[in-house]
Amino acid sequence: MLKKMSIRQLSDAQLQGKRALIRVDYNVPLDEDGNVADDARIRATLPTLEYLRGREACLILMSHLGRPKGERVEKYSLRPVAQRLSRLLDLDVAFVEGTTTDEAREASEELKPGDVLLLENTRFDPRETANDPEMARELAALGDVFVNDAFGAAHRAHASTAGVAAFLEPAATGFLMEKELEHLGDLLEAPEPPFVVILGGAKVSGKIDLIENLLDRIDQLCIGGAMACTFLRAKGLETGRSLVEEDLIELAGELMERAGDTLMLPEDAVVAPDMENGSSSSIVGVEEVPEDQMLLDIGPRSAGKFKDIAADARTVLWNGPVGAFEHPPFGAGSRVVTQGLVEATGRGAKTVVGGGDTAAALASFGLTEKVTHVSTGGGAALEFLAGKELPGVAALTEVETT
Ligand code: 3PG
Repeated sequence: MLKKMSIRQLSDAQLQGKRALIRVDYNVPLDEDGNVADDARIRATLPTLEYLRGREACLILMSHLGRPKGERVEKYSLRPVAQRLSRLLDLDVAFVEGTTTDEAREASEELKPGDVLLLENTRFDPRETANDPEMARELAALGDVFVNDAFGAAHRAHASTAGVAAFLEPAATGFLMEKELEHLGDLLEAPEPPFVVILGGAKVSGKIDLIENLLDRIDQLCIGGAMACTFLRAKGLETGRSLVEEDLIELAGELMERAGDTLMLPEDAVVAPDMENGSSSSIVGVEEVPEDQMLLDIGPRSAGKFKDIAADARTVLWNGPVGAFEHPPFGAGSRVVTQGLVEATGRGAKTVVGGGDTAAALASFGLTEKVTHVSTGGGAALEFLAGKELPGVAALTEVETT
């Protein structure tokens, strides 16, 4: 019988009574008072945490928050996250101010089955982003098994995401990681046609590899948001004060040629002098964007077309809002596109939304539950869909399956 390799999953690992060292991605937005502003990434890990607690494991959680560059920066402390997690789990989550300090070691040793400990921000230690093996070894000493549930950070080869896996056996995926790899993996392996991809957001640069990797498998690629402006310029149109990546205009032209009829750009747009000036916005055709205005949302005609295309698809991937949705006059396009995904989901299609801003747009419309999957990964989802190996996944224990 043919043997296949797959990654060790949580449900296959021996966990009873073990100290489980778990990498999570609690890189969450905090509000002005330092409280967690959006706990979606924390809630997404609860099935893994509950499962491990149910098996009487002791849970030691590690995460990064922000980019503190290897030193302690108070505003990036994970303490508020420990408080939110305590509320969500309805138990006292212990918190220590270090990661590999004596205090962290002692706290991890004192845990009783079902207890949860959150370590301080791994990036307060400069060795984390350098994937220093010594730090990985010190982290590994805190646990008996390693569980990686940090899909959002899996594209980083850091001590707590990848390095640590070499020192603990098994190093398994958590349920969130499994779910993400399954849903996003389906888009690469067996997307049911018609497969529609909607891209938006500010920049083309982060999405080129994804477009190149997916172009041959998709039936329609709809591009909105500010990134559409670089393509409109490649078509020879003027885009006023809109954000354009001048150095990518040529590449956008090449992609456009390769994509042919597969690519759909907006026909109309909502423009204004700037984002703060929503009251003086107007709707224009993309060939008539005034010199002193910028494109801040796709227009109603384009939104309607994107929506219909999404609604009729069997598989939809949406990454990047099609307008500056957080400023009310420029959220209509993203709202209409969301409706298309909701309709498709209702008809049994698989609809996947990726990227923090797109997830936030969906949440602001109250429609998060109406699509198949909202990825917790931003950069990680883009890299995965671009066909790149994720170091945090590659480092996990492989097992033979038949
Ligand atoms: C994210 O928010 O995309 C992840 O937490 C990774 O964060 P980073 O880009 O700072 O590595």
